[in-house]
This record gives sequence, structure tokens and C-alpha cells, in this order.
Amino acid sequence: MDLEILRDIMKQLLKQPRYIHSLGVEEVACDLAVIYGYDAEKASIAGILHDCARNLSDAELLSCCEQYHLQVTEMEAKCPFLLHGKVGAAFAKDLYGITDTEIINSITNHTCGRPNMSLLEKIIFIADYIEPYRKPLPRIDEIRRMAYNDLDRALVMILENTLNYLEQSKAEIDTMTVDTYEYYKKLLRTEDEQ
Ligand SMILES: [Fe+2]
Ligand SMILES: [Fe+2]
Repeated sequence: MDLEILRDIMKQLLKQPRYIHSLGVEEVACDLAVIYGYDAEKASIAGILHDCARNLSDAELLSCCEQYHLQVTEMEAKCPFLLHGKVGAAFAKDLYGITDTEIINSITNHTCGRPNMSLLEKIIFIADYIEPYRKPLPRIDEIRRMAYNDLDRALVMILENTLNYLEQSKAEIDTMTVDTYEYYKKLLRTEDEQ
């Protein structure tokens, strides 16, 4: 499906601030793709679609998981919002005709990341955080500068912020976010030692 059509569908589907956020993610993902030598159209498609299941209620997300036979972890059962990546990926395949597995995986993993992400997964994870329409976040300009220089270092800064925020707000912390953080922190340490 072409980008223009996907944008129109998201405009109808999502609440306005979420739609604006999705446009921002599309734009930043496209820029990062150009900088890091990835296919800009694939990055744009993943960006515009990444939150395509974000308008669903917790109950709807859980019932979509049943319908698409998607596994729900204990943590996801407690915080069904975490499922909007998985369900969004199923929608991308089923409703929007996306067959590219790199796009699908980047939608699945955009919320918590995962160790050893692909280039597109990193691009979408980072674009989701740094897109210009988000409300101000700690160290955001520093993170933006880093994103255009070194994706792995930007990832670690974002994960640090996320974990700090979850700790301060006494919210549940998904083990995948911690695993991702530890993986990339270790990777940077090894890089620095060389
Ligand atoms: Fe999201
Ligand atoms: Fe998002």
C-alpha cells in the first residue's frame, strides 16, 4: 500500500495527537534511514504504521491477541498497552498488506526494544522517542544530537531515561526493556575498551 494511503488511513483511525506523533516518527525515521543507509520508504512505512493499534482499549488488545494467536506474557497481561506493538504488527500484515519482515519486526518491538535489534528496529525505536511533536523529555536535545551520530549510544540514553521514569513513577518495568538496556550498555563498554 502506498504511503499516502497509509497516512490517510492513520489520519482516520488515530486521535489527532497520535496521528501527528505518527507523522513525526515517519519523518524522523526517513531522515535516520537516509543517514544510516537504510531504505527510506520502508522506514517511512514502519514509522507511519508503528502505533496503528494504539487506539485500542486493553480489552480489545487482549482479544486481538487471541484472534491472531499471539502469546501474551505475564507482564503484558498486567499492562496490555505493551501489546500495541505486537497487535499493530498483526494489523500491518493483515489489514495493510505489509509483507516485509523487517517492517513487521520494527512495529512489534518499538515499545521495549530487544537485544540485538536490526537497523530498522533501532530507527523506529529511536524515532518514536525523538520525533519533534512529543512533549519535552529530559536530555532530549542531547539524545537527538546523538541519534544522528551514533544509534547505539542514543538507544542507551533513551533506555536510561525510560527506566528512570518507570522507577520514579513506581510503574511496572518490563524485563525486555531492562534486557535491551543491559545488552546495549555492555556493547558500548566493549566498544569503548577497544
Ligand atoms: Fe507505540
Ligand atoms: Fe509511538
